[in-house]
Amino acid sequence: MTDDGSYSVNSKEINNKIETLHTSTGAISESFEKFIKPLKLNYEKDIAILDICAGLGYNSSAAIADFIENEGKGNLRIDMIEISKPTLACGLLVPSPIEAHDITRKAIERELLKEEYLSLELEDGEIPENMEINVFIDDARQIIQNLEDDQYDAIFLDPFSQNMSPELFSVEFFNEFKRVIKDDGIVCTYTSSAPVRAGFIESGFHVGKGPVFGRKQGGTLASPDVKKLEYSLPKNDEIRIALSDVGIPFRDWGLSNNSDEILERRSIERKSARHNTKISSAVKTPIFLGVDMDDEKLKRRVERNLVKMNIPSTTSDEAFYIIESEKSYNEKQDKDNNSRNRILDMVERLNRILKKKED
Ligand SMILES: C[S@@+](CC[C@H](N)C(=O)[O-])C[C@H]1O[C@@H](n2cnc3c(N)ncnc32)[C@H](O)[C@@H]1O
Repeated sequence: MTDDGSYSVNSKEINNKIETLHTSTGAISESFEKFIKPLKLNYEKDIAILDICAGLGYNSSAAIADFIENEGKGNLRIDMIEISKPTLACGLLVPSPIEAHDITRKAIERELLKEEYLSLELEDGEIPENMEINVFIDDARQIIQNLEDDQYDAIFLDPFSQNMSPELFSVEFFNEFKRVIKDDGIVCTYTSSAPVRAGFIESGFHVGKGPVFGRKQGGTLASPDVKKLEYSLPKNDEIRIALSDVGIPFRDWGLSNNSDEILERRSIERKSARHNTKISSAVKTPIFLGVDMDDEKLKRRVERNLVKMNIPSTTSDEAFYIIESEKSYNEKQDKDNNSRNRILDMVERLNRILKKKED
């Protein structure tokens, strides 16, 4: 039982690791805080949601509850994707954390009966006429390739951590998001990880800071439309994503690599980029650009990394030139002043400094 009284389960062992499906702060509360609140959906129209890594179905249930509470005028369609039948079945065994979960349970039960994973129909819940809930049981990377373009108002991305499931945080997977999401749709995920945010940017998304819940850092929101994303990423996160090897995303060519291959590929790419095309992420070097440092020992380490990149010191002209766009940093973002634009600007400026070195 998590702190809000709703239940979670542990994963089976994957890559020698076990994780719980939800934060101990509150499983169903996390669904509302991280996945529903940032959406600001228009309840006058039909709504379509893609729930990736549906697990026990809490995120879908929270979306249903929100739709009912806001007296949605159109239809609600939710496409849930989950690879594990036992996990979906656990969603039928835990006590429903909210009434709307009975609707999700009915949809899960229906699919598990169809798959002959269950033999008895026990759920009392009914799926209302204005709702369609589809459950796809397979690897989300395979399912998404068969989904139609431009249809989702929201995508929930709720995998295990990036070390356990890097395949669900890759640029290639996000390219599929870009294809299936509406122009003003929004992707919600709990992680604040630099490679994940970098992956969204490489796939053409705007990114913004998501709500903080059960963790120190806010999650990540991504959308083709910056107007959907109120808050910029924290300034130092932008700098590290743009300039250091920590901002190298996960890659999964053909959407078919296993997690070890993806982690290994990123590690090789980081190594070859470090001191070459990207500033070393060691001691968070790039966040000291433009900073007059007091700590002599740290300064020596930082400047040793900078010199290799044609940047003589933290307060050199080159340092200030690279982070120029951060001068206009604003916590609120808009069409011109936003995280994506600043990150791409810094990448370009670093490349110009490196080009000067080659010339
Ligand atoms: C953190 S849990 C999700 C919790 C869930 N959103 C809920 O509301 O209960 C991650 C889920 O991702 C599923 N998963 C792992 N790899 C997957 C894949 N390739 N495709 C689809 N689901 C996957 C796991 O089985 C697990 O249920």
